[in-house]
Amino acid sequence: MAPVELGIPGVRSTPDVSTRPDLPGLIDTYGRVATDLRVSLTDRCNLRCTYCMPAEGLEWLPGQDLLTGAELIRLIRVAVDRLGVRELRFTGGEPLLRKDLAQILAASAELRPRPRMSLTTNAVSLARKARGLALAGLDRINVSLDTLRPDRFAAITRRDRLDDVFAGLAAAHEAGLTPVKVNTVLMRGVNEDEAPDLLQFCLDHGYQLRFIEQMPLDAQHEWDRAKMITAEEILDRLSARFTLTPEPVARGAAPAERWLVDGGPATVGVIASVTRPFCAACDRTRLTADGALRTCLFATTETDLRGPLRAGASDEELAQLWRAAMWGKAKGHGINDDGFAQPDRPMSAIGG
Ligand code: 5AD
Ligand code: SF4
Repeated sequence: MAPVELGIPGVRSTPDVSTRPDLPGLIDTYGRVATDLRVSLTDRCNLRCTYCMPAEGLEWLPGQDLLTGAELIRLIRVAVDRLGVRELRFTGGEPLLRKDLAQILAASAELRPRPRMSLTTNAVSLARKARGLALAGLDRINVSLDTLRPDRFAAITRRDRLDDVFAGLAAAHEAGLTPVKVNTVLMRGVNEDEAPDLLQFCLDHGYQLRFIEQMPLDAQHEWDRAKMITAEEILDRLSARFTLTPEPVARGAAPAERWLVDGGPATVGVIASVTRPFCAACDRTRLTADGALRTCLFATTETDLRGPLRAGASDEELAQLWRAAMWGKAKGHGINDDGFAQPDRPMSAIGG
């Protein structure tokens, strides 16, 4: 099935697969190879972060459109067995809301070569789940945390759950889901002054902090470049309290640029998607909770895998659809280009 064309100017249309070398992996026309699969398990969430969702939430994907656990496991198996995927990142929405999460992890852990598995969560319900997830085969966890202050947490997420997040972080560390990484989005006039406090907190607890530049992916389409806290500003704010030196190791496809804190070994990362795009080294492919394949967070076209899957496509047919879609992966996200169009799907329905 061809990607859905959304008619956005400047966006490359259906890829010409006749020029694609007959290789099994997820190669694209810019020489990149995708080996990291991000799987969104649900578009729902138990928080309502202002930069992600409106207070009343969103219209969730209808239940029959969501991939079942068995369908998800089948597509993950195709990705690992046939397409060279070596890393699985489970996201949402909030992936801990998915009741069959442990089964999905356990089935993924049985694949060979065994993929590395991590999960990005708001940690609200992590305290009671961390051990079970580790036992099911999860290797690592990323926790979203934008503030250490209860009042601010309630204002940003519209829920008063900061203590649950702290408990979730501690439980993840205890369960060996390490290194526990913390993701922070700084917002002007909201939490921008907390950068050094957040770093100190993470240093004290042995968590790895990464700041993420806010991206135009909010459901409300209110992102404003002028309000975004840039990587440069983040580093300036941290440098007021810490000495940062660039980490002397190759970054590879990692989105975070890392700095040693006060000589190391602790580090802090900055994911500067907007001001220092890293698309040229991207090794990611994405699957949404309703079975759409996306070549990029910012893709304006998608390839439906659920339809063919439910219509009886073979593993190799699904693999071919995936290869063809990735061959058409755009060079970059285009946030900084004239005529940039934010994708219709919000972050919560794509997966971070
Ligand atoms: N820009 C940057 N990061 C975002 N996240 C959610 N929305 C945005 C956005 N618009 C973060 C969350 C979480 C991760 C999945 O992405 O805070 O840590
Ligand atoms: Fe939920 Fe994450 Fe969106 Fe916050 S940013 S509302 S935790 S999906």
